[in-house]
Amino acid sequence: MKQVTIEKQDHFGRGIAHLDQKIMFVERALPKETCQIEIVQSKKNYQLAQIVKLETSSIERCESICPYYSKCGGCELLHQTYSGQLRFKNQKIEEILTKYAQIDPKVIQPILASNPIRYRNKVTLHIEKDKIGYYEAKSHRLIEVSDCLLLDAQLVEVMQLLQEFIKDHHELKSAMIKVGRKTKEVMLAVTGKTNRDHLKQFFQNKVTTLLYNHKILFGRPYITSQVFNQTFEITEESFFQVNNDMIERLYQVVIELVQSLRSQEVLDLYCGTGTIGLLVSPFVQKVIGVEIVQEAVASAKRNKKRNHISNVSFIEGQVEKSLSILTKQIDTVIVDPPRSGLDSFTVQKLLEVRPQNVIYVSCDPMTLARDLNKLQKEYDVNLVRPVDMFPNTHHVESIVLLSCKSSDSVINGKWNLEKTIEKCR
Ligand SMILES: C[S@@+](CC[C@H](N)C(=O)[O-])C[C@H]1O[C@@H](n2cnc3c(N)ncnc32)[C@H](O)[C@@H]1O
Repeated sequence: MKQVTIEKQDHFGRGIAHLDQKIMFVERALPKETCQIEIVQSKKNYQLAQIVKLETSSIERCESICPYYSKCGGCELLHQTYSGQLRFKNQKIEEILTKYAQIDPKVIQPILASNPIRYRNKVTLHIEKDKIGYYEAKSHRLIEVSDCLLLDAQLVEVMQLLQEFIKDHHELKSAMIKVGRKTKEVMLAVTGKTNRDHLKQFFQNKVTTLLYNHKILFGRPYITSQVFNQTFEITEESFFQVNNDMIERLYQVVIELVQSLRSQEVLDLYCGTGTIGLLVSPFVQKVIGVEIVQEAVASAKRNKKRNHISNVSFIEGQVEKSLSILTKQIDTVIVDPPRSGLDSFTVQKLLEVRPQNVIYVSCDPMTLARDLNKLQKEYDVNLVRPVDMFPNTHHVESIVLLSCKSSDSVINGKWNLEKTIEKCR
């Protein structure tokens, strides 16, 4: 057995040490800890290891509150206090953005903290015969789970009901449960084989919407969620931010930026069910949203009606193929892409048309850094606000404000910008 001292955490939260001139990643080890390790994989340039015995432990170490933590692949940071997780995430954002995009660390704000448990409004579960749960880390082995501390209590109730149901119905394969923010509406969508009448009877009056192999058994084809004073529908397939506790804080930052920048004509790219565009619409003249998922666009259109909004329109399609709408009239482009970030065509178009402001909402700091690196040819990065949308995991969301260097209204922009930055502190 070998002993190492952990220098820091890598971007996945693992401890980094050096042994025999090779970098080593130690699962669940924290900075400054000394531990006896066992090497589980040895590659040419690095080694993977796990702790066998902890010799000295970090002040950030805590007892995991989850009985499934040693096996489950869902959370990586449950052995770290929440304040330690926030320190790690602030450091991770700063390291990635300064190293890969040369961002001035002064523009990076401290992360907005969440409630670390019971924040998730959606869960996807695997079912094998009479067992339900998550897959073990990096495998397809099922671990039976009867509670998960990340989940809203209503999701856990439905999960436990499903556990009852599958005792006598062994052919279901998967389940997705979603709960509406503030509305408490619940959607259960199961796949596999079962007796649909039994399923219907069992969940009648227990969930709001029931889907079986993507077909409605009862309820509307969506549930609703409330964000500020607006109501949004969420369907089986459409995206909705998963952290009920932080949705408003995330969008509040975007709304404040739009207001302070005095944006008038806004593009909301990767708009999902229209949340950001509809929420900023009272403060601007016009918004156009673009989204690839047909069902999400249909929801966005209904959300517009439901919230009595008239200055927003939606286009169904790929952002990269819809960029003819990015004209000189647009002063603010909001992008909220998936983890893969922006494609090169979209970056190129932004650099050509140079809208005054780009607000980039990112769920992956690495692809964010890649894109900022390119966008900085024409833009200054003036503000980065990380938001902890995913406590207990290594993931972190950020909102970035970019201002065009050569925009006609740059003076106006700079003047507004100071107020904006003040507001977001
Ligand atoms: C991170 S979500 C953001 C959704 C929305 N802004 C929100 O806050 O609810 C990213 C969205 O981009 C959509 N999407 C992914 N690739 C796309 C593309 N190439 N063109 C348009 N939309 C895309 C996804 O369907 C998803 O709804």
